[in-house]
Amino acid sequence: MTSTQLPSDDDVRRALSAVKDPEIGKPITDLGMVKDVRIDADGTVTVGIYLTVAGCPMKDRLTRDTTEAVQRLGVPDVRVELDVMSDEQRTELRRKLRGDVKDPLIPFAQPGSLTRVYCVASGKGGVGKSSVTVNLAVAMAQRGLSVGVVDADIYGHSIPRMLGTSEKPTKVDDMIMPPQAHDVKVISIGMFTPGNTPVVWRGPMLHRALQQFLADVFWGDLDVLLLDLPPGTGDIAISVAQLIPNAEILVVTTPQQAAAEVAERAGAIALQTRQRVAGVIENMSWLETEDGQRIEVFGSGGGQRVADSLSKSVGAEVPLLGQVPLDPRLRENGDNGTPIVLANPDAPAAQVLRTAAEKLSVRARGLAGMMLNVTPAGR
Ligand SMILES: Nc1ncnc2c1ncn2[C@@H]1O[C@H](COP(=O)(O)OP(=O)(O)OP(=O)(O)O)[C@@H](O)[C@H]1O
Ligand SMILES: [Mg+2]
Repeated sequence: MTSTQLPSDDDVRRALSAVKDPEIGKPITDLGMVKDVRIDADGTVTVGIYLTVAGCPMKDRLTRDTTEAVQRLGVPDVRVELDVMSDEQRTELRRKLRGDVKDPLIPFAQPGSLTRVYCVASGKGGVGKSSVTVNLAVAMAQRGLSVGVVDADIYGHSIPRMLGTSEKPTKVDDMIMPPQAHDVKVISIGMFTPGNTPVVWRGPMLHRALQQFLADVFWGDLDVLLLDLPPGTGDIAISVAQLIPNAEILVVTTPQQAAAEVAERAGAIALQTRQRVAGVIENMSWLETEDGQRIEVFGSGGGQRVADSLSKSVGAEVPLLGQVPLDPRLRENGDNGTPIVLANPDAPAAQVLRTAAEKLSVRARGLAGMMLNVTPAGR
């Protein structure tokens, strides 16, 4: 490049407007993250970038994205110098992102919120709630939706592992930036406790923790938020209903009659809390042998039974959204952090989960008594 072709300061800033902060999802030029731009006579461009916090886990990616964006101007060399925002700058950023409110509000509970919130609930433990949650989340993200997951199972948090992330959330001022895995934003209590230490939480603390997950985390504009609830009809389910009254319940059960009975009770909590039941997913429905036979390991009929009985008790159709077969790959994929809908998309279990995700993505909200916010499928 000759000196006559040097880009201007404006050229460089325009190029930088294509760089988004990976956690916030907005251009760094809008976030006050560009500290300065220097253009030397030999065409070398040096860009100063403010990180939101020291040791920001995204700094390598930011450096790379910035370098690539400026390289596109055809300059011979790009240098990125990192600095860290001051407290004042962070406060300014928080104001920019969510206004000057004192008490953080739960965005999903505000009138006009376009985010569909699903609480994944079950009666019994171990029926596959967390597995279903991560697969639905990833399948919805694949459909182009912006998706968040809250691991509200304070005692048994397993979501980060199933999504393959061990990243900690970043704090900017008093906002929490959720890590992302497979295009899904995820927050778990496990991210706030060192190592694998068990957490003893009591009711009010649970409520507070959940409120914090929902209010202090910067989720951006979500199409769907999935909450993985602990098994049973405990405190958390009631808290969710109080914090996000328009959250819908998604019931997971196995085909077993005993499991179905408890699942019905978990679903029936919707009657008391006046929440809508979005549907039922039956998991571990059968095991298919190589010659195509289905072994019904846990019996049959549980999912349909829960759907029928909840339809009757809530007085609105509660669909059986799918029957997910047993598949060792589903467990393996969960253990190694790539949900089966990504790792083995053609597996029957993956197909059922994808279809359920599709039904939950496209169905418009709004029964009597609910806001009629119709969100188009995809974006
Ligand atoms: N369809 C399936 N095929 C094979 N394994 C499955 C299937 N669904 C779930 N599993 C496995 O069963 C175990 C329990 O599943 P998961 O952790 O998702 O259940 P949960 O309801 O969230 O449990 P908890 O009540 O402990 O939170 C996991 O090891 C998971 O990998
Ligand atoms: Mg679980």
